[in-house]
Amino acid sequence: MGIAITPLERPIHIGKRLAKNRFLIQPMECIDGDLRGRFSESTLQRYENLFRGGAGVVVMEAITLQYESRARRNQLLLDVDDPDNRDQWERFLFQKRMQYPDTLLIVQLHHSGELSDDSFSRRVCVKPLPGYGGDLIDEEYMEKTIESYVKAAHFLACSGADGVDLKFCHGYLFSQILRPYNDRRWKYGGSFENRARFAYELCEKVRRAVPDERFLIGAKVSVYDEMPGGQGHDGPYSPVIDPTESIALCKGLEARGASYFIETLGNAGCGWSLMCPDRYSAGNVFQHMTMAKLLRKNLRPETTVICGGLSVLRDGNNNGLSGLDAKKNSLFYWGNTCIERGDFDMIALGRQSLADPFLPQKYLEKREKDIHWCVCCNRCGELEAAQERCGCAIYNKPYVKLYQNLKQKRLPCDI
Ligand SMILES: Cc1cc2nc3c(=O)[nH]c(=O)nc-3n(C[C@H](O)[C@H](O)[C@H](O)COP(=O)(O)O)c2cc1C
Repeated sequence: MGIAITPLERPIHIGKRLAKNRFLIQPMECIDGDLRGRFSESTLQRYENLFRGGAGVVVMEAITLQYESRARRNQLLLDVDDPDNRDQWERFLFQKRMQYPDTLLIVQLHHSGELSDDSFSRRVCVKPLPGYGGDLIDEEYMEKTIESYVKAAHFLACSGADGVDLKFCHGYLFSQILRPYNDRRWKYGGSFENRARFAYELCEKVRRAVPDERFLIGAKVSVYDEMPGGQGHDGPYSPVIDPTESIALCKGLEARGASYFIETLGNAGCGWSLMCPDRYSAGNVFQHMTMAKLLRKNLRPETTVICGGLSVLRDGNNNGLSGLDAKKNSLFYWGNTCIERGDFDMIALGRQSLADPFLPQKYLEKREKDIHWCVCCNRCGELEAAQERCGCAIYNKPYVKLYQNLKQKRLPCDI
């Protein structure tokens, strides 16, 4: 008799590809590129650790395709028209393919839109929000954006990446288009059909440019966020949550060739407690599980559903959740239980992957006691918000120092 393996250890088909286990590394912007958006030594070291860490899938962080409008000063850039930039990507992808052929490498493509930082870039918007705004974009702008995504996906497919992740979440450009608040009269505004049109055109055109289905198309979707009229709300100004459109969006993308979805919640422009539950908002982790289950229930059995927002669970101790035995309130307990029950298919690791990129390997080797558990202090997020290189400011010394410097720079009235 073979030794029984836990659900988290089981391989899983994602579209035409096989992930060797049920761990997926979330895209995590760490803004450590240079001022031209190229990888730094620190970027390369981060990804080396993540690939060595043993997850079945690594999704690379939000990569911008242009530097005109962006949220982070040192965001990583993919510019297929710049030979220097292409060369760096080609070398990176080739090396990862050679060294880690059994880890799926997916690249998240991103546009910040209205959340671009107007102190160093151009803010563009679909329909201005109070306190944000920017230049109103038109159909031609969106057509060019689609074109740039298609070119990037084609380049990535030819250079060894296993897929692209389309970012329909967290209040960035595509989320700005999808949300009911976008009731502007234009090709991509008003009715759900109009707002989803962009996502569908994008998915179809990427698939047409890369017809080989072994190249995966997937999406990270905010099933709902905390902004009235935001994604998953039932009207342009409504505070009422209704995930009907988010489910319809995923079904429409699935019909056009998307083979996985990463569940997420929230909007980076509104607050973090939904997107990144911490000790004080720990109960939101169950909202993530519930929404992942809702997607699972509504999508085709062969579509892979990945649950996010789970870092707060840790080993069940000191996670802000009470009323349950720690052993039955941990990342591994809920990951295994929910996969076994068919609530979702994989678990995604965000902040936890900064705290310990080797967690999957340690789990698979039964070295759980060696795991550095994320404390969900959100210092990584504070560094990111301050445009600093970011990483775990609890376990990783250079980031502890950066965080201390950041705090010293702040005036007492900022705290
Ligand atoms: C520092 C930081 C950077 C992030 N960068 C990205 C990103 O590039 N793309 C994305 O979709 N989400 C990003 N997120 C959100 C995470 O991927 C994830 O959805 C969130 O942290 C919740 O998962 P967790 O509880 O495992 O941390 C980021 C979050 C943090 C804290």
